[in-house]
Amino acid sequence: MPRNIIDVTDLTVEEIGGLIATAEDIIANPAKYQDACAHRQLATLFFEPSTRTRLSFESAMLALGGSVLGFSEAASSSAAKGETVGDTVHTVSCYADVIAMRHPKEGAPYAAAQFSEVPIINAGDGGHNHPTQTLTDLLTIHREKGRLDGFTIGFCGDLKFGRTVHSLVSALSRYENVRFVLISPAELKLPRYVKEEALKKRGIPYEQTESLEEVMPRLDILYMTRVQRERFFNEEDYLRLKDSYILTPEKLEAAKPDLSILHPLPRVNEISVAVDKDPRAAYWKQVKNGKFIRMALILKLLDIRV
Ligand code: NCD
Repeated sequence: MPRNIIDVTDLTVEEIGGLIATAEDIIANPAKYQDACAHRQLATLFFEPSTRTRLSFESAMLALGGSVLGFSEAASSSAAKGETVGDTVHTVSCYADVIAMRHPKEGAPYAAAQFSEVPIINAGDGGHNHPTQTLTDLLTIHREKGRLDGFTIGFCGDLKFGRTVHSLVSALSRYENVRFVLISPAELKLPRYVKEEALKKRGIPYEQTESLEEVMPRLDILYMTRVQRERFFNEEDYLRLKDSYILTPEKLEAAKPDLSILHPLPRVNEISVAVDKDPRAAYWKQVKNGKFIRMALILKLLDIRV
């Protein structure tokens, strides 16, 4: 059975440390890695829209000297003819050495992995998980703060459907002394199963609030998220909740001078463009980090040492 990355906890804390170290070495010495994956192929199977995740995976493999194949929408694959995800993945695993897959159904990458002869990476499954965005977030936090423990992080926005939030909460619950502040409208709270599994079981205290202003002065990291329109059952609810939080330079006046602002992107309305100029905005650096940590992950899954 190949090694799959379906959930971020499929990697130990030590392995995540190793990936961050490799990503740092890639950033410092990119030329050393440029032929590491020569003659290897990555397939990207995206049954749901994506800009950063798919292109950063592809860019990562190309920067390692490998090549890429795949599709960016279900309509251009045999899924449109009624093929099962299992058969599609079984087929692609005959061509590629590693597969990154995104699907609107929770659990689809896990199910597909049972049919694959090569490693499957979950590139986002419905409103569930997104482990490689979390690796990106962890590399960014590590670069910004120099550590992955001992800070207060606020998650703000759609904590119910935001899969990047679920995976990052789960990942950070394994580090010492991380304080969680969950900021959302009542209807978009972090799902109970994430709280149970990641926080309550481990005895980790957390705070829930609807007010970003109230908690802003205490935060070391602010993780903003988009309200996930595509997961809503009706448009009215989305329209009512979509502008619940809009981060502006004025609101940031109350924040710590060394706050780090993260956002997995795409942004809709929740961070005003004027915030981009603030030195505390780390989300564009986060985009770059996504490529380097995926390079490190591909090397690990293909068992290639440089
Ligand atoms: C996120 C996703 O797809 O879950 N985007 C990403 O991969 N960077 C966040 C989002 O879509 O809001």
